[in-house]
Amino acid sequence: MVKICCIGAGYVGGPTMAVIALKCPKIEVAVVDISVSRIAAWNGDQLPIYEPGLEDVVTQCRGRNLFFSTDIEKHVAEADIVFVSVNTPTKTQGLGAGKAADLTYWESAARMIANVSNSNKIVVEKSTVPVKTAEAIEKILTHNSREIKYQILSNPEFLAEGTAIQDLFNPDRVLIGGRETPEGQKAIQALKDVYAHWVPEDRIITTNLWSAELSKLAANAFLAQRISSVNAMSALCEATGADVTQVSHAIGKDTRIGPRFLNSSVGFGGSCFQKDILNLVYICECNGLTEVANYWKQVIKVNDYQKNRFVNRIVSSMFNTVSGKKIAILGFAFKKDTGDTRETPAIDVCKGLLGDKAKLSIYDPQVTEDQIQRDLSMKKFDWDHPIHLQPMSPPASKQVSVVWDAYQAAKDAHGVCILTEWDEFKTLDYQKIFDNMRKPAYIFDGRNILDVEKLREIGFIVYSIGKPLDPWHKDTLAVA
Ligand code: UDX
Ligand code: ADP
Repeated sequence: MVKICCIGAGYVGGPTMAVIALKCPKIEVAVVDISVSRIAAWNGDQLPIYEPGLEDVVTQCRGRNLFFSTDIEKHVAEADIVFVSVNTPTKTQGLGAGKAADLTYWESAARMIANVSNSNKIVVEKSTVPVKTAEAIEKILTHNSREIKYQILSNPEFLAEGTAIQDLFNPDRVLIGGRETPEGQKAIQALKDVYAHWVPEDRIITTNLWSAELSKLAANAFLAQRISSVNAMSALCEATGADVTQVSHAIGKDTRIGPRFLNSSVGFGGSCFQKDILNLVYICECNGLTEVANYWKQVIKVNDYQKNRFVNRIVSSMFNTVSGKKIAILGFAFKKDTGDTRETPAIDVCKGLLGDKAKLSIYDPQVTEDQIQRDLSMKKFDWDHPIHLQPMSPPASKQVSVVWDAYQAAKDAHGVCILTEWDEFKTLDYQKIFDNMRKPAYIFDGRNILDVEKLREIGFIVYSIGKPLDPWHKDTLAVA
């Protein structure tokens, strides 16, 4: 029986391994992690991540051929294929700070593999890592090998949160990079055989190691660039009276452009986009490609600009001060159908408003109060470390309250901000919300999910990203 072990039971490792176990009943899959609480949650009734369809997959295979464990060394020693899916934060200190990936956790995983292995292994990169990480890992393994042979593969994950299970069941492609030697090709084939249990052959692409590593960064950079492009357009639309949703629709009809990833928003978030672009920028700079680095940097700059613009719009429309004013924040996750808050634009928007002394009342259907308070007090890249190394729970900020209902959040508020596109926000009783708010009552829709005209009829002053401004906002133009 083939044995797989995955180091790192996070958003990538957990769902990916669960689907491999489901689709390959003859393969034994162990998912291991240093976090005792995370493994306990994977083994319990309340899984550590919220992902539609995941629970069903896990309950079908857990205890059969899917195991979650903290006994890392045992499972790594027994495995034929070891996936590594550990944290790869952005460095906060030293060479490449603010850009380069911190490979501390990857390196320690690699050294541990070298220490405990007593049979040949295929080691698969699953975390997003900079180009040529595989080469570095290969060096660590071979220099500590004790006669054992390792083949390193890069098998980047393209799943998106909220649709992870569907993406894994039916991927656009599976990408496997490996060495162009006979041993490398054999390892590629072994991993291909795993995916071939359910993925059609023509969707499994094989490349050399570096192409696979770079493709992951490139795919995320291209996707993020589309969002920054449409967000840049949204600013122009507001300035000129065009409607960004109409522009997106019109350009998306061009089959060469396509309709997806053209929704203007308060900014993109998530654990990958910013980190991967920063990595890309760093790699370009290290290779002397300043122009290329600057090109990709601009995608992040526009994203930051979009978040700032949103905050400025709120403050300027409320007579240039939100000091002491209650503002309701609806949605904190970085997108709907996930409880994940990593790099969510809500953090920067909330921090911006708090900086102007607003009082925030935050509601998100999937994010806990502890998480929100942590996010608002953590330093920029702290979130991307194993949980036990993150700062302890902070004392709750007096300016922030977290509530479990949108109506309560909006009660007596001056303004309501939509920061995540949760479906339930589309069908709230906005008349009731309006009646219980201070006047003038403002709505700032950072996701373009609300019916602007209806809200204006109720009496709200409405701002919706990239839509024609109402006269109130025209008179209070925000300077970013
Ligand atoms: C992304 C990639 O899609 C996935 O392939 C990769 O493996 C990991 O990174 P994810 O971070 O889960 O996945 O979310 P995604 O759906 O790509 O959204 C990222 C951010 O962009 C979210 O904040 C989302 O709200 C925002 N977004 C997306 C927009 O603002 N507009 C859009 O049109 C699409
Ligand atoms: P991703 O979104 O890439 O899956 P996560 O942060 O959700 O990232 O998951 C990474 C997981 O890796 C965390 O649960 C963390 O505890 C785990 N981890 C980090 N370093 C190690 C290690 N050396 N051995 C085992 N698990 C590790």
